[in-house]
Amino acid sequence: MTAAIRAEGLRKAFGGRPVLRGVDLEAPAGTVLGVLGPNGAGKTTTVRILTTLLAADAGRASVAGFDVAARGREVRRRIGLTGQSTAVDGLLTARENLALIGRLLRLGRAGTRRRVDALLDRFGLAAAADLPAATLSGGLRRRLDLAACVLGEPAVLFLDEPTTGLDPVSRTVLWDLVRDLVGGGATVLLTTQYLEEADALADRIAVVDAGRVIAEGTPAALKRKAGRDRLEVVLARPAETAETARLLTRLAGHPARPDPDRAAVAVPLPGGLDDLARVAAGLSAAGVAVTDFTLHRPTLDDVFFALTGAGEAEPAA
Ligand SMILES: Nc1ncnc2c1ncn2[C@@H]1O[C@H](COP(=O)(O)OP(=O)(O)O)[C@@H](O)[C@H]1O
Ligand SMILES: [Mg+2]
Repeated sequence: MTAAIRAEGLRKAFGGRPVLRGVDLEAPAGTVLGVLGPNGAGKTTTVRILTTLLAADAGRASVAGFDVAARGREVRRRIGLTGQSTAVDGLLTARENLALIGRLLRLGRAGTRRRVDALLDRFGLAAAADLPAATLSGGLRRRLDLAACVLGEPAVLFLDEPTTGLDPVSRTVLWDLVRDLVGGGATVLLTTQYLEEADALADRIAVVDAGRVIAEGTPAALKRKAGRDRLEVVLARPAETAETARLLTRLAGHPARPDPDRAAVAVPLPGGLDDLARVAAGLSAAGVAVTDFTLHRPTLDDVFFALTGAGEAEPAA
């Protein structure tokens, strides 16, 4: 099977400063690739190269089977892009915006009207269809962006931080729309800073940091890699935090981390139910009063922390 998106060793520098240092990506057709990384990691630069808006200094990439550098026209005919700077005109209504794009795509009068009506409906924009786009809420506006992007039925969609700054309800609506599009056969590359979003949508995730892919895999595999279950207890008597951390270190056989501000102690607990029972019995025998006792499974947050190094300086945005 050919990949719908493939990038090999992409490099890019701006003013001598490298921002992509050899990015490799691959997305099979009909899947969602999540590109997850903090501000400044190089996500938008990567998307701009893959969508032919920017030339790479080195490396190569193909989208829908066409080389992005040599066959830009073929690539552009098969992709949709929504980004932080949108193509939507604020003075036109939602319906007019979509109709304009339909004309640019030469879908024909009747064809355009049919498709625009269907999209307005499907994207929950029918009630707002005749308002100027500039007056729409952030969530509706983002839906309009996405509708504009899929009007030409692109095979490959690039969604650059599609839900950044959106309220949770709008975010969920957009997630459902993306799932719909993929169900219809599209391939999606989605960049995000939200681990939760990558977890919810992506078949595979590439974690990028400072212009490099530092991990790649399914959400489940990445979580397994980051590690182990972790027990957290919250104490009834905050003064006992340090002492309880020492006790938990002994009981669990791993270093426990006290959090005095919350009167909490966390400790790795990889041994499952047996470990849990032993630790609970040990705390009880020592007379430690606990107000909360929770086992945490690893999350993508843990992955991100483990990979990028917690406490390191944020890369410049
Ligand atoms: N046109 C440009 N000129 C100079 N620097 C740029 C340009 N575009 C991006 N950068 C820099 O490249 C780095 C990566 O940016 P970007 O790809 O936008 O990251 P992300 O989308 O992950 O936040 C940032 O440090 C950014 O300031
Ligand atoms: Mg960006």
